[in-house]
Amino acid sequence: MDRFTAYRSHQNDGKVSSRFETLTLDDLNPGEVVIKAAYSDVNYKDALAATGAGRIMKRFPMVVGIDVSGVVARSEDPRFKEGDSVLVIGSGLGEERDGGYSEYVRLPAEVVMPLPVGLSLFEAMAIGTAGFTAALGIQRMEDNGQTPEQGTVLVNGATGGVGSYAIDMLAGLGYPVTAFTGKRESDSYLSKLGARDILYRGETELGQRPLERALWAGAIDSVGGDELAWLTRTVQPLGNIASIGLAGGIQLNTTVMPFILRGVNLLGINSVLIPMGLKQKVVERMASDLRPRHLDEIVTRTVALTEVESVFQGYLDGTVTGRTVVRIGDA
Ligand SMILES: NC(=O)c1ccc[n+]([C@@H]2O[C@H](COP(=O)([O-])OP(=O)(O)OC[C@H]3O[C@@H](n4cnc5c(N)ncnc54)[C@H](OP(=O)(O)O)[C@@H]3O)[C@@H](O)[C@H]2O)c1
Repeated sequence: MDRFTAYRSHQNDGKVSSRFETLTLDDLNPGEVVIKAAYSDVNYKDALAATGAGRIMKRFPMVVGIDVSGVVARSEDPRFKEGDSVLVIGSGLGEERDGGYSEYVRLPAEVVMPLPVGLSLFEAMAIGTAGFTAALGIQRMEDNGQTPEQGTVLVNGATGGVGSYAIDMLAGLGYPVTAFTGKRESDSYLSKLGARDILYRGETELGQRPLERALWAGAIDSVGGDELAWLTRTVQPLGNIASIGLAGGIQLNTTVMPFILRGVNLLGINSVLIPMGLKQKVVERMASDLRPRHLDEIVTRTVALTEVESVFQGYLDGTVTGRTVVRIGDA
């Protein structure tokens, strides 16, 4: 634990660069719990942060990685003891606090969660923030009245981490799912996850009118921009749209018509800004009724920490399918 490897970002003259470094615990932010990391993962946000393509980190230097699972190496908090298996997601790692791309991670006890029964350290990171956020979106839609009987839910950004888990989880709950993707070659992947129908970006007419024919009972969107605007125009009365991401743009050009004439609900989903009670509930569901049925298909890559840089560009280009798990140390 004296000296260990971490992948850390620096900012010089406004430009972000990241590199492997040898650190000691004193280089990390303070906290009561020291975790020997076993796995992390790669999310779109990690690729933005590490490459500087997006401004994610609130301070520098900062260890990259928004998720981590591992075993407690030391704890000054009675809630955890050496040897406990734990996970940390949705807690500002790699953004406000040093992240999970590190052999050791030191964190405040309040952000550390016991690994739920039924999930391994690997599976926890296979699901990670992507699966957690998909599950949170579903939870929020259900809290707002969404049921499988209302009909088809469209999942946009379908082959990405959030999209893949949204399809798997919704289909597992009995929702008919239509996948919306830019990847023509992804049919068999998306069908295997549970999509009944597939629509392709660039081949689907999005229309311009304030209200188009109402096609979807609800939607989970990780793309934003024109496609989210289209969803507001095409969701059925009282349907819910979980707005999760911005991979396709941050603009939203729509009108109030879907909201005041169809009672459509646009639910903002933030995986960090949630009460601990809701977070724990969603994590429990990730290990029970929302446990992904196709983890093996969705985890398309497992890389060692030292190889993590090699996958970032694919995330920025939107060419990656599924999830990348990062193996740390001797996990
Ligand atoms: N709100 C939150 O708390 C929260 C939590 C997690 C993630 N997110 C956000 O959700 C989004 C998805 O995250 P993720 O980790 O699932 O990312 P990901 O694995 O990289 O998936 C993103 C997917 O979006 C689609 N896409 C459409 N236009 C794109 C473009 N111009 N560039 C890149 N991808 C494009 C692609 O899938 P198809 O070709 O199949 O459409 C791509 O695979 C990101 O914007 C991320 O920041 C938000």
